Amino acid sequence: SLIPVILCGGAGSRLWPVSREAHPKPFIRLGDGQSLLQKAFLRGANLPDVTQVLTVTNREFFFKTEDELREVNRNQLPISFLLEPFGRNTAAAVAAAAVHIAEKQPGTILLILPSDHLIHDQQAFSEAVSRAIQLARQDYLVTFGVRPNAPETRYGYIEAEAHRVIRFVEKPDAATAAAYFESGRFFWNSGMFCFKSSTVMEEMRIYCPDIIEAVCTCLARSRISEGKGFTLCELNAECFARVPENSIDYAVMEKSSRVAVVPCNIGWSDVGSWDALGELSKADGNGNCVEGEALLHDVENCFIRSDERLIGAVGVRNLVIVDTPDALLVAAKNRVQDVKYLYNELKSRG
Ligand code: GDD
Ligand code: MG
Repeated sequence: SLIPVILCGGAGSRLWPVSREAHPKPFIRLGDGQSLLQKAFLRGANLPDVTQVLTVTNREFFFKTEDELREVNRNQLPISFLLEPFGRNTAAAVAAAAVHIAEKQPGTILLILPSDHLIHDQQAFSEAVSRAIQLARQDYLVTFGVRPNAPETRYGYIEAEAHRVIRFVEKPDAATAAAYFESGRFFWNSGMFCFKSSTVMEEMRIYCPDIIEAVCTCLARSRISEGKGFTLCELNAECFARVPENSIDYAVMEKSSRVAVVPCNIGWSDVGSWDALGELSKADGNGNCVEGEALLHDVENCFIRSDERLIGAVGVRNLVIVDTPDALLVAAKNRVQDVKYLYNELKSRG
C-alpha cells in the first residue's frame, strides 16, 4: 500500500506577516478557505489505495494540525502523527517517517508530500504517482520533476536521462541556475518524493548515517499513544537534539545514485511569495486581486489581503498590501521576494 507522509514545518519568510514562526506557511488559508496543509492532506488522501496518512510536524502545531485535518478528513482515514520537539529539517523528518513505518510495515511505499505548495491538476498528479510507485518498487528514490519557467535559485534542479537522474543540484547559485535553465535539460524538483521506506533507509545509511542512526535511537525511546481516530508518536527531545540538521535534498538526493524522476505537468506552484499567491486568485478588470474587504478607487494591479479590517486604497499601482491583526505589509509588487528581509530582521530582534 501507499502511505502519504505530510511534512509540515518551516516558516515561509517571504509570506510575512501571514506566515511566521507561530503560524508557518502550511497554515495559510487561500481564497477558497482551505489551507495549504489541508490541500496537501486531500491530495494524498484522494489517491487510490490510500488507507492511512502520516503527518510529521512540530509538537507545538499538533492541535492546530489535528483540527485542520479533522475538518477535511471526510472519509475518516486513520491519521498518525509524528511529533518533533523542534525542527531538524526534512532529512530528519523523512527518516523518522521511514523508520516509524518500517517497524510495522517494512515494504511500504511512502509518498512524501510537502505542505507548502499547490497542485492544480489532481488527475495528472495521480497518474504521476502511479508511475512513481512503479519506480519505487524497483528501489528508486523517485522525484517529481516540473518544467522550470525561470532561473529560480530556491529550487532543486534535476538532470535526467530517461527516468534516471544524472544530477540533482539543490538550490544552485544564480549563474548556475541560469545556465541550467537555458540548457533546457533540467527539471525543478517539486519537493515531493516516493520510495519504499527500506530504500530510503538504506540510502541514508550510506550517505547520512549520522542522521538515520540518531533518528533510530530516538524512535526507540519515543512514546506512542492512541487518541480518537489518530496515533501519536512523540519524538524524545533529548535524543532528537542530537540529530544533525539537513534537508533530504542535500543529505540524500544530491548524493544517491538511485534517484529517478517522473516528469510531470500537474499545475505545480510553490506559492513562495505574495505575487505567486496573487496569481492564484482571479483579478478584477483593473488587475486587482482582493481577499477580504477593500474599497478601491483608481487602483491597478494590486494584491490586497485583509484578515479583518476594511482596506481603503486610492491612486496606487503594483502594490502588495497584506493586513493581519498585528502587522501590516506594504510592498512593491516587484520586490515581494525581499519581504524575507523584514522577517529576518524581526527574528534577529527576537
Ligand atoms: N516536519 C517537518 N520538520 N517538516 C519540515 C521541516 C521540519 O523540520 N522543515 C521543512 N519542513 C516541511 C515544510 O513545511 C515544507 O512543507 C517541506 O517540508 C519542504 O521544506 P522547505 O523548507 O519548504 O524546503 P524548500 O522549499 O527550501 O526546498 C524543497 O522544496 C523545493 C520545492 O518547493 C526542496 O525539495 C527543493 O529541492 C524543491 O525544489
Ligand atoms: Mg518550500
